Amino acid sequence: MKVFVLAFSVCCYFGWTESAVLRNGQELPTYGEICYRNSPDFNDCIKNTLQSLIPKFKDGLKELNLTGLDPVYVPELLLNYENGDIQGKMIIKESNTHGLSGIKVLDVRSKLNHPERFDMEVDYYLPKVRTTGHYKMEGLIGQFPIQGKGSYQVNMTDVSGTWKIKGQRVLDEKKESYMKITDFGMRPNVGHMDINMSNLVNGNQELSAIALTFINQFWKVVYDAVLPFAEQNFEKVAKPVLNKVFLSVPYNQLFPLLPGTTETA
Ligand SMILES: *[C@@H]1O[C@H](CO)[C@@H](O)[C@H](O)[C@H]1NC(C)=O
Ligand SMILES: *[C@@H]1O[C@H](CO)[C@@H](O)[C@H](O)[C@H]1NC(C)=O
Ligand SMILES: *[C@@H]1O[C@H](CO)[C@@H](O)[C@H](O)[C@H]1NC(C)=O
Repeated sequence: MKVFVLAFSVCCYFGWTESAVLRNGQELPTYGEICYRNSPDFNDCIKNTLQSLIPKFKDGLKELNLTGLDPVYVPELLLNYENGDIQGKMIIKESNTHGLSGIKVLDVRSKLNHPERFDMEVDYYLPKVRTTGHYKMEGLIGQFPIQGKGSYQVNMTDVSGTWKIKGQRVLDEKKESYMKITDFGMRPNVGHMDINMSNLVNGNQELSAIALTFINQFWKVVYDAVLPFAEQNFEKVAKPVLNKVFLSVPYNQLFPLLPGTTETA
């Protein structure tokens, strides 16, 4: 689900037409339409930019050290879960998430009229998402310890939701403004999920198969329970990625004002 993060980076990074100069002096070429942050068409502009550029930038962007968009690779993700009788810890390693290039950007809403704040919501739909990788899990269900370690594959269909992104202006040593991303929220709805995990109950194939059947039968319950905890981790993954863009490209280059206008006009 880290898929959604990089998509947004691409949108914002490619939103200007003149080449931008990064903090480290590197110059970046121009892609797509320019989106003026005080234009009445800004939201539509972002929507179109996202929609056209995400599928094009599958391989990432080396100038901003962004890795590929389809698949999105995350080396490690930590999930802690604790609620009543169930507690657990899962480490997900080398996950690859495929499907972002099939994105449909449904709607964009933003409040950018405050010079110090950034506030944007993006509604999206993904017909198919597949994620694979390795996991290690340990926990307790009541007094019963569970422990597993293996590989996993999860197929999802009809994934939809909203990225909620907030930022706060920061100034660099030259008094240039950047919009630092401070919050990233998302709670994807999933239409259907098929889960395959090997060795769910360490060393016991029979119990592993039973556990897997159980998880697939009750995937919705499991997903709903874990989602709030997962969301905190998505934010930890998402913010640094978004900030690779937002703290590299000055705000006035990322989303300029309409020519001849000022912030307080
Ligand atoms: C990307 O990484 C390289 C090497 O690690 C570094 O020199 C460069 O400044 C980074 N670029 C950005 C935009 O972070
Ligand atoms: C699940 O994974 C195992 C081994 O990784 C494989 O043998 C099996 O065919 C997979 N099942 C499905 C439904 O993908
Ligand atoms: C996920 O989809 C792939 C490709 O369609 C398929 O090979 C695989 O068996 C599916 N895995 C699960 C867990 O359903």
